[in-house]
Amino acid sequence: MEVVSTVAELRARVSGWKRAGESVGLVPTMGALHAGHMSLATASRGECARTVLTIFVNPTQFAPHEDLTRYPRPLERDLDLCQREGVDLVFTPAVEEVYPPGDSTFVEVTGITKNWEGELRPSHFRGVATVVTKLFLMALPDRAYFGQKDFQQQAVIRRMTRDLHLPLEIVTCPIVRDADGLALSSRNVYLSPGDRQAGLCLPRSLKHVEELWRNGERDPARLTRELRSVLAAEPRMSLNYGVLVDPMTLEEATTPRNELVALVAGRVGQTRVLDNTWLRMSASDHQGGN
Ligand code: PAF
Repeated sequence: MEVVSTVAELRARVSGWKRAGESVGLVPTMGALHAGHMSLATASRGECARTVLTIFVNPTQFAPHEDLTRYPRPLERDLDLCQREGVDLVFTPAVEEVYPPGDSTFVEVTGITKNWEGELRPSHFRGVATVVTKLFLMALPDRAYFGQKDFQQQAVIRRMTRDLHLPLEIVTCPIVRDADGLALSSRNVYLSPGDRQAGLCLPRSLKHVEELWRNGERDPARLTRELRSVLAAEPRMSLNYGVLVDPMTLEEATTPRNELVALVAGRVGQTRVLDNTWLRMSASDHQGGN
């Protein structure tokens, strides 16, 4: 495994692989890698001849009051995990490599960034869209891998890739959970045992609506009430939102439909926690309906 930190080195490696006819998968991360990130690398290794993983704590997606400076940066450990996973190349650029002095160009996705994380973190998706576009143009991969855990983020990246005609495929990989059900996140290291216990109301609320969905409930109003009743039972959770949305538009759903995403997010102690579940018809429902 090689580790490079300049765009020139990254491009040289990737173009060599492409000339040899090898496909390239990109796994963009901010480091502090966990099994969720490694599942993206595994998916890439399964589908692409070469896998590039990027580690870059992107300053433009953090608001001034957020945790940019204390964001965990265990680089040696991350590189060790990448090596063991069989990643071919790790790209660890400095801030000035990604944002050259005087840089004044941003990518902004409107509409689906309006609500939820976009409302709570007004400049966040502009920073994500900008850095992901830069990483795509630096690496020119055939596919890029993102986690369903940040559902709105992957929707924003899909929309941006489509709108800008970027020549790659976006792959969204399933959420990876700890044994207790909490979705993996690099920020889980901030949680005290008590915070963590309180955070478990998120997966609990999602399991509850999954159960209702399996039993045929399709009314978003009823599902939302049920979701929120589980969340309200945890006094330590300061809820940001608990909603049922359309998976494409991310607008709150008001009429029954065959596909919905339940998005939940809140704060326990000092730490934000997010989770979601994608409610879809099963193959047998489809057959029954035809
Ligand atoms: O999900 C993340 O880790 C980041 O938002 C991403 C996509 C690597 C962009 O900095």
